[in-house]
Amino acid sequence: MNDRATVPTLENSAFFMPFSMNRQFKKAPRLIARAEGMHYYTPEGRKLIDGTSGLWCVNAGHCREKIVKAVQKQVAELDFAPAFQMGHPLAFEFADRIAALAPGDLKRVFFTNSGSESVDTALKLALAYHRARGEGHRIRLIGRERGYHGVNFGGTAVGGVVGNRKIFGALVTGVDHIRHTHDLEKNAFSRGQPKHGAELADDLERLCALHDASTIAAVIVEPVACSGGVLVPPVGYLERLRATCDKHGILLIFDEVITAWGRLGKPFGAQHFGVLPDLIATAKGITNGTVPMGAVFMRERIYQAFMTGPENAIEMPHGYTYSSHPLACAAGLATMQVYEEEGLLTRAAELWPYWEEQAHALKGLPNVIDIRNIGLIAAIELAPRAGAPGMRGLDAHTKAFEKGAYIRVAGDIIALAPPLIIRKEEIDQLFEIVRGVLKTTN
Ligand SMILES: Cc1ncc(COP(=O)(O)O)c(C=O)c1O
Repeated sequence: MNDRATVPTLENSAFFMPFSMNRQFKKAPRLIARAEGMHYYTPEGRKLIDGTSGLWCVNAGHCREKIVKAVQKQVAELDFAPAFQMGHPLAFEFADRIAALAPGDLKRVFFTNSGSESVDTALKLALAYHRARGEGHRIRLIGRERGYHGVNFGGTAVGGVVGNRKIFGALVTGVDHIRHTHDLEKNAFSRGQPKHGAELADDLERLCALHDASTIAAVIVEPVACSGGVLVPPVGYLERLRATCDKHGILLIFDEVITAWGRLGKPFGAQHFGVLPDLIATAKGITNGTVPMGAVFMRERIYQAFMTGPENAIEMPHGYTYSSHPLACAAGLATMQVYEEEGLLTRAAELWPYWEEQAHALKGLPNVIDIRNIGLIAAIELAPRAGAPGMRGLDAHTKAFEKGAYIRVAGDIIALAPPLIIRKEEIDQLFEIVRGVLKTTN
């Protein structure tokens, strides 16, 4: 028996909402009914500026006609096609299209349906790659404190957000973490990459000494740790991580589920930082958030390591029913067309200085202890309320909704990352609303 009323209402709805305060939300819902361009609309028709591109994914803005039409056409033509031992042309076309944008020789693509799946796929590829070349003793996976790599078992294990890990048992064995890079004492109010902290990358050497480097398969980091609070890598940090991985034969995986597709002013974050990882996990903006999809990019030598056995053997016993789904490929191709036609993959670089000025102009408002930014991302960190961490952030989120903006918070950190189509006047509007929120959030 359940105690739901016979006539369902939103308050007793069957929907178990993800990453949400279900009971609180269902009593005072914040619903979205429609979206267009830079805006969401509530069922009552109230307009909200989208300050975080949905969940960091709607990079070209909402309900873009070309993408909508491509999906509509595709669903009527080929609704589903099996990807195991079968194929459809769009999958190959789309893989080549996005491979052309990827850095260095990361030109081979494995399709998934989400960021979480991309992360777990990248981790499995790393383990299988080492085994294929006779280094099956490399079994350890290294993540970073405060990293977010989705919610599957692998991603949760390498992730470093305590609240996301603690209730799920032992997760995956053989995982360890390097330290995070957040240091407000030295780096508060940094613009772009903070100056201090490159040496934190040497924490990997500590783990190499502890476990022996020959047991480590891969290190996974987000170039910018977004969901964990927008932690921008210190100058020189990623380079140092790369060098340590090279020294010890460890694969470096960039989780670019957020930083890919233009967020930092280049197609991939790796291109912005000039550091070439061995694998890149992506999702979200790959289809502008319209149809679930993810993709893992790998370097040629990784792909080739799998292509050595007999040709009548399956090289990678991994994949999803919906890998390279026709609707996702159609949405992805149309998305790339929009990105290209409107220059969106580099637009964040143009907007960056203006965005940075407006973000840092909030300095001095009540409870603001840090403002940081990179590309078209900004974070405003608020001092936590005594004994109630996260509550000030939550208040800011709900107040912003009332005042006309949708924004994400990670605990007491407001994270802003609007669609890359945003205009300067809209940047002003967004920060004006955030200013009003901060003035009235005690
Ligand atoms: C860096 C990173 N990795 C993985 C994920 C998980 O993606 P998804 O929610 O599509 O599974 C996210 C989602 O925010 C992310 O930011």
